[in-house]
Amino acid sequence: MSTKNELITELENLQKQAEQDLAGSLKEKELQAWRTTYLGRSAELVQIFKRLSESPPDERARVGQLANQIKNNLEILFNQKLQKLNQEQLEENLQSERLDVTLPGRKPARGRLHIQTRVLREICHIFAEMGFQIFRGPEVESDEFNFELLNIPAYHPARDQWDTFFTTKEGVILRTHTSPGQVRSMRAYAPDPIRVILPGMCYRYEQMDASHEIQFYQVEVLAVGKDITFANMKGTLEEFAQRMYGEQVRTRIRPSYFPFTEPSGEMDIECFVCGAKGCPVCKGSGWLEILGCGMVHPVVLKNGGYDPQVYSGFAAGLGIERISMLRYRIEDIRHFWGNDVRFLEQF
Ligand code: PHE
Repeated sequence: MSTKNELITELENLQKQAEQDLAGSLKEKELQAWRTTYLGRSAELVQIFKRLSESPPDERARVGQLANQIKNNLEILFNQKLQKLNQEQLEENLQSERLDVTLPGRKPARGRLHIQTRVLREICHIFAEMGFQIFRGPEVESDEFNFELLNIPAYHPARDQWDTFFTTKEGVILRTHTSPGQVRSMRAYAPDPIRVILPGMCYRYEQMDASHEIQFYQVEVLAVGKDITFANMKGTLEEFAQRMYGEQVRTRIRPSYFPFTEPSGEMDIECFVCGAKGCPVCKGSGWLEILGCGMVHPVVLKNGGYDPQVYSGFAAGLGIERISMLRYRIEDIRHFWGNDVRFLEQF
């Protein structure tokens, strides 16, 4: 008969306490803390192995065995609890990620080409079919190409016609029209004949309103050769208008002025909104202006490397926003570069 060993009582209490502490609903962190308390390196249970000598020698083996048993037992309990906790977490996640596969799908937004990109491509295509090549000049231009070489010297009053964005660098500006490409392409091809179009963005320092923007597309048309006449220009531009607006469209050319063409003109098409009767779109005139044009000025031909006694040419400048506005009845030019998808999505 042996009285109850003190260590055994301690062990039993420990076990009871540990089981009690584990009974509640523990969070993962609390569970880990429990493990440190009861099974960690400095846990009482572990310390007991070092205190076996406190028991009478013939009981030490029994106490040791019991301590081991309790330790194993607690480890099993811990693992069970952990597993349960993980399971609960998984279910919670599944619950929160639950989705209704029977809901109708949402249509993804699809990108598209900007209306001006499409109109520009269409215009390039029409001229390509007439044998014109595309030539590109820089958007950041020199004063020389944008003005001087186009027969617009400094202080020439005609400069007022092109309100300019200057840069901090002397003589460097944002091009105000695509016309500087005339001299650039001439210098690239002289003395061979040329048939090119020059599409691109232009910039003007404007007060913005329904018909004025600070950025806009132009397409320059240029033909240089030995027998290029005003009639060639008229025929080319009429052909373009018909392919763009339909065969029935009527055109007219009015006299105008540009320093780099002589003679100069502006081409109108018959107002298709009112059938030339007069309406707000054509401001009662029955005609809509779509481009400026003229025979390349001898000074410009010379600057491009052609002898004006031998060569002649015609040039035209088309405002692409204007062409789109007329075609799609867009009443405000600011829509084009305002980046409002509600506008852009309509095309
Ligand atoms: N560059 C002129 C403008 O922007 C248009 C133009 C081009 C006129 C070619 C005649 C010839 O106003």
